[in-house]
Amino acid sequence: MIQKYYFANWKMFQPLQSSIDFIDQMSEDIAFSALSLHKVIGIAPSYEQIYYLQKNLKITNCIVGAQDCSEHLFGAYTGQVGVQSLAEMGVSFCIIGHSEVRHYLGQQDLSIALKCKLLLAANISPIICIGESLQQKKDGYTFQILYDQLQQIFDILQNYYEDLPVFIAYEPIYAIGTGVIPEQDELIQIFSFLQSLVKELPVAKNIKFLYGGSISHKNIACFAEITDLSGFLIGKSSIDFQEFKKIVELS
Ligand code: PGA
Repeated sequence: MIQKYYFANWKMFQPLQSSIDFIDQMSEDIAFSALSLHKVIGIAPSYEQIYYLQKNLKITNCIVGAQDCSEHLFGAYTGQVGVQSLAEMGVSFCIIGHSEVRHYLGQQDLSIALKCKLLLAANISPIICIGESLQQKKDGYTFQILYDQLQQIFDILQNYYEDLPVFIAYEPIYAIGTGVIPEQDELIQIFSFLQSLVKELPVAKNIKFLYGGSISHKNIACFAEITDLSGFLIGKSSIDFQEFKKIVELS
């Protein structure tokens, strides 16, 4: 059976106590524990909560990750968090290139590629987010944008031969937090295009595709037919444990 991944991107929605309540509920839920035997659950809280969650999350197949990292290894970079700290805390994955970070911090593809390189060296799976805006989609540039966003990442993956899973999350900007999701046909075409782009890379078999943007228990069934998909990156719907559980159950 192909393992499915459910990554909760908690953004800045959960203060510490809500995160503790969430993991308490999750740990006490026997039905959920049984479910997660066949699925991988990833939780990306804000940085200050990682250490606590990593120590206290005892469910099988449940991993903790970060929402971003610095592109630098060490140094005078106030406010940034380095991959070595993440690795020492036991982080298994890290989201990079999220459209909110690209937007608020003006992050460029080169920085995202540098982060990817540091994460791979630290044995942390990157979740590389890519996606076009509504205007770019209307203008017919979807494939070009996705191709461009991946070029510098591919330069790094060209020389990477380890077995660590590498995730590419297609998150169209117009779908994030809006309740809108792309048509199924569009997604099938996009994931098959992405699949064709990665097939020559040495790590092709370890590359896993995720979809993110307005996932909820009401629309999760729409993704069942997309065979190239290994899982989901879930924002708002991942903060409420019961909603998150329904998504995991129904897919
Ligand atoms: P959303 O966010 O599920 O709230 O749309 C997804 C994401 O930003 O990763």
